[in-house]
Amino acid sequence: MSDTTVPDVSELTLDEKAALTSGLDFWHLKGVERLGVEPIMVTDGPHGLRKQAGEADHLGLNASVPATCFPPAVALGSSWDPEVTARVGAAIGREAAIEDVAVVLGPGVNIKRSLLGGRNFEYFSEDPFIASTMGSGIVRGIQSQGVGTSLKHFAANNQETDRMRASSEVDARTLREIYLRAFQGVVEDEQPWTVMCSYNRINGVYASEDPWLLTHVLRTEWGFEGLVMSDWGASNIRTEGVKAGMDLEMPASGGLTDAQLVAAVKDGSLDEEYLDIVAQRALDLIRKAGERPAVSGGFDADEHHAIAREAAARSIVLLKNDGVLPLSASQSIAVIGEFAAKPRFQGGGSSHINPTRVDAALDAIREVASEVSYSAGYVVPEAPEGIGMSGAKAPKPAQSVLDALRDEAVAAAKAADVAVVFLGLPDEDESEGFDREHIDLPAEQLAVLDAVIEANERVVVVLSNGSVVALPFAERVSGVLETWLLGQAGGSATADVLFGAVNPSGRLTETIPFRLEDSPAFTSFPGEASRVHYGEGLFVGYRWYDARAIDVRFPFGFGLSYTTFEIGAPTAVADADGGIAVTVSVTNTGDVAGREVVQAYVSVPESSVVRVPRELKAFASVELQPGESREVVLSIRRRDLAYWEVRTGAWVVEDGAYRVEVGSSSRDLVGAADVAVAGDELVLPVTRDSVVSEVLAHPVVGDLAREALGKTAFGELFSVDEPNPMGDSLPLGRLVSFGVDQAIVDRIIAGAA
Ligand code: BGC
Repeated sequence: MSDTTVPDVSELTLDEKAALTSGLDFWHLKGVERLGVEPIMVTDGPHGLRKQAGEADHLGLNASVPATCFPPAVALGSSWDPEVTARVGAAIGREAAIEDVAVVLGPGVNIKRSLLGGRNFEYFSEDPFIASTMGSGIVRGIQSQGVGTSLKHFAANNQETDRMRASSEVDARTLREIYLRAFQGVVEDEQPWTVMCSYNRINGVYASEDPWLLTHVLRTEWGFEGLVMSDWGASNIRTEGVKAGMDLEMPASGGLTDAQLVAAVKDGSLDEEYLDIVAQRALDLIRKAGERPAVSGGFDADEHHAIAREAAARSIVLLKNDGVLPLSASQSIAVIGEFAAKPRFQGGGSSHINPTRVDAALDAIREVASEVSYSAGYVVPEAPEGIGMSGAKAPKPAQSVLDALRDEAVAAAKAADVAVVFLGLPDEDESEGFDREHIDLPAEQLAVLDAVIEANERVVVVLSNGSVVALPFAERVSGVLETWLLGQAGGSATADVLFGAVNPSGRLTETIPFRLEDSPAFTSFPGEASRVHYGEGLFVGYRWYDARAIDVRFPFGFGLSYTTFEIGAPTAVADADGGIAVTVSVTNTGDVAGREVVQAYVSVPESSVVRVPRELKAFASVELQPGESREVVLSIRRRDLAYWEVRTGAWVVEDGAYRVEVGSSSRDLVGAADVAVAGDELVLPVTRDSVVSEVLAHPVVGDLAREALGKTAFGELFSVDEPNPMGDSLPLGRLVSFGVDQAIVDRIIAGAA
């Protein structure tokens, strides 16, 4: 792309080094003018390009060049197929390369902790394993085109309320196993070129100036080799950020923070080596971006639209079908709901794309069936200007207007064989920048649906929403399609599924509960006084509903098909890499081709630590012709079996029996197999607070302790050879009160050191 040789940091002046640590403007990194190194460009992300045309304005709000709007993560995740995300990623990468964009700012792999999270539509799941797998697909795809990614928002950034300063208060195990795990997976498997640190604080420390997060965990533990940039405006005290390993402040600081860094080096408060490290990483990124071969010409908009359509169809989740679907072209169809004509296909905020074109479901339905009526049913509030985010609410139409629209819809429903009712959340209800206050669909939409249900006994609901909504009508309708936000080709993809050109195979990556009140973070979200306690701990999403045996409307992993499948009894064996290989047969027992998503959940029944009932650890989307049967091998990696051991600060695979349950959703588990896994040795530190049972079981000082304590008054009172609840729970430091010499205690502690 560029012929200039990118220099090494040693060739730069102090000012030049400092300059590289902050943006040139809203979307560019600085180059090095003196040496002919050109600035490079980064743009949003994550489900298409948002490259602003012309001069960037101060807030990055003005129009962007047309680009293919692929399905946002909320939908793509539901495909449960990383090949789909990789294909989409490759197309985004191609568009980015053509626009000379060095880094696409995505994907986002944050966990959907609360149903109310304003950016839930930008994230994949309530589960870290699927978020990691699907996020890896996007990164692989984009980077295959010589374009970088920015894995965001690192980390524990799970709400929009007070997002610039709220502290996510998370215990160490939960942080590792739930909130960091998806990031770890993507970093270890795909090496994204960059990571974007988030606005919030974690346990009191800003992510943008946390050396533990940005250097120890990310680089030392996970082996990240790229550059860390700040989210836009997330940099707090720049010198602290540089010391922590936050390489690039975005966007521009107008030279202010560069000058602060120069001054800090000069007055000795910042070691120049820190500056060398971060500036070198900026140079490395510029060099890498320059290695991409130049691309000429435009991209094939039709081809990319087709990829968007295929991905969208793969993302649709069929939640209910009493036989009404697929529709037949010869039926008379009443299409009801303004979303059918004016689709909502993406969320508001920085991910908002200017699509190359938009398919409306109504047009696509009319292309297939000839007897199609349309009534708007309700009024969708006008979308906010530009990329949205204002949170402003449009005035509601007069009740007389709504009544007339409803009556028209009822008349159309009465006259048709089937009513297809499009419902969803308007732009003003969900966006980056604010969280939701409830999970209900607009009342006027529900009122229309109620009236239509009275008028026609065959009603199919098609939902457009970026985050979970309550479905109080699910029992009263014949069919429900959850289409999430499907990107620009969502309308035609919806028709593909409605008429059976595509057999639905999407599965829920998040639980749909009966009530918001049932959900895990209900009592603690979004916190108070800029602190939010992640009080549900490990029990996020289905982990919570399963542990508390709460009935849900639709469980994690759920989704129907137009065919039927049979999953056989699984076998599970320990594999050569210390993980588990699960083999299971899947058969298409119906009469159309389709895809089953086989899911493997792991539990450790005899665990010595707190465990959730089961966790997703492997899955596969398997395409089968009618009558076809296949053996599927699901590989569970050893790293995914580990829990975070807080006493040693390390990942540990526990020794013992692991249960693998296999099925088509987290609550439809058709078979289980047990397998023994050889664990890691857990050597706990021995301190005054170690209790007798821990010391006696200790691999290094256990024998010594048994022998020494056995001869004391303690040993006479409580046996050291048999379990003894009272004696076993005494800390070493207190044994002096039970007739043990301090010297013996000291010897045991020293023996383990
Ligand atoms: C968002 C990021 C985005 C950046 C640049 C921020 O407000 O949090 O996701 O990449 O803006 O638009």
